[in-house]
Amino acid sequence: MSSCGTGCGCGSNTSNTPTRPLITKNKVNKDLQDYWETIYNVIDHEKSGWYEKNPEPTIQLIEKSNISKDDHIFVAGAGTSTLIDYLLDNDYTHITVSDISSTALEILKERLQNRSTTINWIVDDLTHPEKLQQIPPVDLWVDRAVFHFFTEIDDQQTYIDLLNKLVKKDGIVIIATFNLKGATKCSGLPVRRYNELMLKEKLSPIFELQESFETLYTMPSGDTRPYLYTLFKKL
Ligand SMILES: C[S@@+](CC[C@H](N)C(=O)[O-])C[C@H]1O[C@@H](n2cnc3c(N)ncnc32)[C@H](O)[C@@H]1O
Repeated sequence: MSSCGTGCGCGSNTSNTPTRPLITKNKVNKDLQDYWETIYNVIDHEKSGWYEKNPEPTIQLIEKSNISKDDHIFVAGAGTSTLIDYLLDNDYTHITVSDISSTALEILKERLQNRSTTINWIVDDLTHPEKLQQIPPVDLWVDRAVFHFFTEIDDQQTYIDLLNKLVKKDGIVIIATFNLKGATKCSGLPVRRYNELMLKEKLSPIFELQESFETLYTMPSGDTRPYLYTLFKKL
């Protein structure tokens, strides 16, 4: 299997991997968006270092969350995740799916075909949210492998402010990141790795940690990545 050389196992050739975006304060949104659009245009998404045929750890936590079928579920940075297929297969009816990459969401829509029409699709940047500010209150927020890309404190705070604003009281937040044994980069971008305490500190005092576990994810390439999964409740 070819590799992008970043250690993330995304499956892309080094020559095809876009150069890391130049982050300037006033241009981060567009640069970051172009970066992810290129990723989804050059790699086979099913061979990416994060693609799961079966998002079992997230499903495990959703099943414990006791949310109702018509509760509002928000999937942050969904990419082409099969979690959305699971939600539809299991009759969840109020789903908002967002990503910074419209290409990722188009791939996902194409896979879901006519079932995609029941979903609210939003292309927006979690670190510069505009359209996301307008969505209805959320009962369940799911993020796998997105928050850990926000290495700047400002970006983390913007994300947490949005989380605080959108998630209802008693609402549930599932966040999965690389854990402290995980890779330091993914898709050519640096990531911030977490343990349970570090995430707890980020989300407290508004959210209370209910459950967490570490698990080894096997990438399509066969390599493994250690993840931390957490479930928080809004107080
Ligand atoms: C490693 S992938 C994970 C995708 C999906 N959550 C999964 O588990 O399969 C990270 C995703 O986050 C999206 N993303 C990265 N930065 C983002 C941002 N600032 N706002 C919204 N989405 C972002 C990327 O486009 C990509 O689809």
